Amino acid sequence: MTDTAAIRFPEGFLWGAATSAYQIEGAVDEDGRGPSIWDTQCHSTNLVRDGHSGDVAVDHYHRMEDDVAMMASLGLGAYRFSVAWPRIQPVGSGPANQAGLDFYSRLVDRLLAAGIQPALTLYHWDLPQALEDAGGWPARDTAYRFADYAAIVFEALHDRVPMWATLNEPWCSALLGYADSAHAPGHTNPHEATRAIHHLNLAHGLAVKAMCDIDSGPQHGIVLNLQPIHAVGPDPDGVVAEGVRRLDGLRNRAWTEPIFGAQYPADVVEDLEAFGGLPVEEGDLDIVAQPLDWLGINYYCDDFLQSRPGGTIPHAPGLRDAGEVDPGEAVTDMGWPITPDGLRALMVGLEETYPDLPPIYITENGCAYDDPVVDGACPDPRRIAYLDAHLRSVRAAIDAGVDVRGYFEWSLMDNFEWSHGYHQRFGMVHIDYDTLVRTPRDSAWWYRDVIARNGLTRTATVSSG
Ligand code: FCB
Repeated sequence: MTDTAAIRFPEGFLWGAATSAYQIEGAVDEDGRGPSIWDTQCHSTNLVRDGHSGDVAVDHYHRMEDDVAMMASLGLGAYRFSVAWPRIQPVGSGPANQAGLDFYSRLVDRLLAAGIQPALTLYHWDLPQALEDAGGWPARDTAYRFADYAAIVFEALHDRVPMWATLNEPWCSALLGYADSAHAPGHTNPHEATRAIHHLNLAHGLAVKAMCDIDSGPQHGIVLNLQPIHAVGPDPDGVVAEGVRRLDGLRNRAWTEPIFGAQYPADVVEDLEAFGGLPVEEGDLDIVAQPLDWLGINYYCDDFLQSRPGGTIPHAPGLRDAGEVDPGEAVTDMGWPITPDGLRALMVGLEETYPDLPPIYITENGCAYDDPVVDGACPDPRRIAYLDAHLRSVRAAIDAGVDVRGYFEWSLMDNFEWSHGYHQRFGMVHIDYDTLVRTPRDSAWWYRDVIARNGLTRTATVSSG
């Protein structure tokens, strides 16, 4: 039955779900895969909760065919996945490991046969350990190794994959990885983080260039976790506002300005002088600012800073000692506030700042709620409400003139949530970690209906949960 009052999305809007290699694949020792920095983070540090690891994850490597069939049954139009660099180049350089390429080639063929568009991310944080041993992202050479790797994967799959992303959330790689220790390689060195920022931007530009030299037909982009940051509470001496400026600089502008404006913001450059400065060489910024076909945005919530007794405003990459505050009652299991209108505001603001911005895809959006399976079903009304509200926000951005082309829910299924191990569940599909049985949650069927009608019902779905 046609719902004439539905809130529709533009024709051709892409509806998908997202995952990443280390979070779902398992099979870490198979078919020639080398170790990555996340294998090391899980096995050689205590930085991952309860010593969890991606050794088995949700065993997607062995269940790929069934997982694609499940995606088809959920009506997905697109699937965003990442390629594990250490499956392709076990030590991060040198010839391709054919068995690694073959896995992704089979995945792509299966997706296409099921009518699901593949969207490939080249780097979702699993740097080959050998490259970390040689200096990791603080070393300039890693950017060139990444471009070589990108060319190998692109050469093999560009005939069948229409949508390519270089990096996923380079802010996390640089700041959480090298300054905060929350992510691999688990360092707390702001000098390293500063160098990593620029080398990640450079890696992105070099990779786009290398791929376009092979074929400029497929659509090239990058995935950034941009986030509006707000000051709340009293701020008589302006220290909170100063903290917001600094965090916004690192989180947002250190990426958007070089990529879309071929320069680093002057205040960020100045802030980072204290940590050795950004290692920019002549000509680098022209490489970073490659023309892009699309921008991916991962959005979960806005951020809020306040002054705290005894606290200091962040003064170095990765430090957040001003603290986050919860602006309302509702938070997800991650403790993240629910701020759907922030997504609209973020996109509208970007368009104002960069009039030539390429089309946007929401490459991740979703929430963690631990709703169990009961009698074969998994009701998750809070996730439905979250998704519904954020999709309305996307629609509002489109109404305001932003060119949004698609939306990928994070995540297709529960998976290894980095330093939280398996304790946070973001899936539209529930995973039983004892049996690895997949059970679509109610939100998965709800999403299937959204996809089928290319829109939302007129009345918002609110959660009583
Ligand atoms: C993003 C990551 C993704 C997942 C979600 C919850 O920052 O890209 O892998 O962990 O957060």
